[in-house]
Amino acid sequence: MEKLTVPAIRQRKGGEKITMLTAYDYVFGGIVDDAGIDIVLVGDSLGNVMLGYPNTLPVTVDEMIHHTKAVVKATKRALVVIDMPFMSYQESIEQARRNAGRMIKESGAEVVKVEGGLRMKDVIRAMVDIEIPVMAHIGLTPQSVHRMGGYKVQGKGAAEEMLFEDARAVEEAGAFSVVLEGVPRNAAKKITEMLTIPTIGIGAGPDCDGQVLVLHDLLGLLGQFRPKFVKSYVNIRAEAEKGIKQYIEEVKSGAFPDDTHSFH
Ligand code: KIV
Repeated sequence: MEKLTVPAIRQRKGGEKITMLTAYDYVFGGIVDDAGIDIVLVGDSLGNVMLGYPNTLPVTVDEMIHHTKAVVKATKRALVVIDMPFMSYQESIEQARRNAGRMIKESGAEVVKVEGGLRMKDVIRAMVDIEIPVMAHIGLTPQSVHRMGGYKVQGKGAAEEMLFEDARAVEEAGAFSVVLEGVPRNAAKKITEMLTIPTIGIGAGPDCDGQVLVLHDLLGLLGQFRPKFVKSYVNIRAEAEKGIKQYIEEVKSGAFPDDTHSFH
């Protein structure tokens, strides 16, 4: 089994679609890697999914490193990407380099992902200059939730040209790929045709070079609410609840443990 690298993913532009999923721990890191995913993203969505925060803003560099170390241990083939959390790269180029370097050194991930387009151009270039591969993230950027006034589709109408500028800026800065989140499918198609680096879509339609989802959405682990772009392929939450309820009943009734689950 050949390990996937940054150049290998870069070369998939316009070819075989790139598959990416989030994972935040050793068990699920191993499951997605064994299933054959190309890229595992330790997203700062771990704030909502694993830590119960209301959004991604409180996530820290230490939390990202802690979770990513576990995912890296479980991953044999996939490229591992670590999200830089809010306020770990926005202050200055020096701060961005210091945190990106620490996150790569301590977590074992191979790539950092940062949110923002044109405004992050110098920061992306500075990290690329010190040999840290960068995946960019434009469109609906969850760290900008307060500016956007919620999780709203970006790049509609007159805002389309700004989205294109963001896309061109991150490519020029040296990002090797870019996540397009929450943008009209037509805009994502145009960006995918315009750029020479792969685009990876989430809520951006079918014409990107790859797709990403939050693993817990795909597995139906998060309950009822699901954004329009999410497809749950299984309902593990319902299955888990079923098994746990049966365990509770059997312990209370004395059916578990029975003789076959006891030592003699
Ligand atoms: O944090 C995350 O999970 C992400 C993906 C949704 C792209 O950034």
